[in-house]
Amino acid sequence: MDAANVRAMTRPVGLPFKLNRIGHIALYVQDLEKSARFYTGVLGFQISDVYAGNELPGGAVFIRLNADHHGIALFQATKDYRPGAGLHHVAFEVSTLDEVLRVREHLRQHNVRIHFEGRRRAGVQLAVEFQDPDGHNLEIYWGIDQIGSDGYVRAPEQWKGAASLEAAVADPVIGQDTTVQDKSLLRPRTDYDALASELDALLSGESDSTAIAANAAAAIYNALPTLNWAGFYFVQGDELVLGPFQGRPACVRIALGRGVCGTAAVERRSLLVPDVSAFPGHIACDPVSRSELVVPLLAGEKLLGVLDLDSARLARFDEGDQAGCEHLAAVVVRHLAASVLS
Ligand code: SME
Repeated sequence: MDAANVRAMTRPVGLPFKLNRIGHIALYVQDLEKSARFYTGVLGFQISDVYAGNELPGGAVFIRLNADHHGIALFQATKDYRPGAGLHHVAFEVSTLDEVLRVREHLRQHNVRIHFEGRRRAGVQLAVEFQDPDGHNLEIYWGIDQIGSDGYVRAPEQWKGAASLEAAVADPVIGQDTTVQDKSLLRPRTDYDALASELDALLSGESDSTAIAANAAAAIYNALPTLNWAGFYFVQGDELVLGPFQGRPACVRIALGRGVCGTAAVERRSLLVPDVSAFPGHIACDPVSRSELVVPLLAGEKLLGVLDLDSARLARFDEGDQAGCEHLAAVVVRHLAASVLS
């Protein structure tokens, strides 16, 4: 460690959120009952909720020391997670739901992988979960249930788990006001399964590769909100050559291995680029583009080209979009494979 370097570190000006306080910690313990007895009987915590073991292997006990539904959560230790030294997670509170959404964008821009977002169960807070460089699990949340002096705790039937912040916002639990002030923070939700079926129907019965790619580009561009470019590059020799697309005129030839498109092609894997300015070698066709998703078109072992999507919004695409677009690309490939490109 360079102590001077560390002393010079500061909170960046203009950070779009503020962690108010450490909200709660969750610990792995050897014997839930014994620990619960210690924290209640010796330290005076109160029990808010208990998972008997069906919700989480081995069970969990949520205990409070103030109005927050839990200040400490006790989780049963497992083979992989030792008791005592085993920290399950630390959680930080922000003041507004908008801030949780901003934290999500912020983490994405810093390439911090979010391993959970949405609403778990007891406590019903809306949260994003991720790890620090050592693998400590961290949570940033808003909206944890408050337990007053009457001790009333929400019934488990009202918990409503949600696997994304958008899903949690759309389906609030009783008494939770999930109004988002800045709606642009919410991601558009695309039903990729429905879109794949529509695309399949649209492309059926045609064998001309240009017609297939052109209609696929138009269908995708019009179905996905906030894109400024959607289209194809096809392999010719050691280059990708511009195919049908929607959006502004684009770079025509990209060497395999160059830019986001050329890298995705060579590595034969999708590339999710939350901030194109942070991608070494990104080729800026349209300076307005700020995030990009490129999916290779693979017909078995054969690389046909790539599907490229651009957006003027930072971090427009997430893992759900990636999986969805891989599904769309597979549909396009199936139709192209029967055409002159094969
Ligand atoms: N940005 C791409 C080039 C293609 S345009 O975005 C349409 C890249 O870096 O490969």
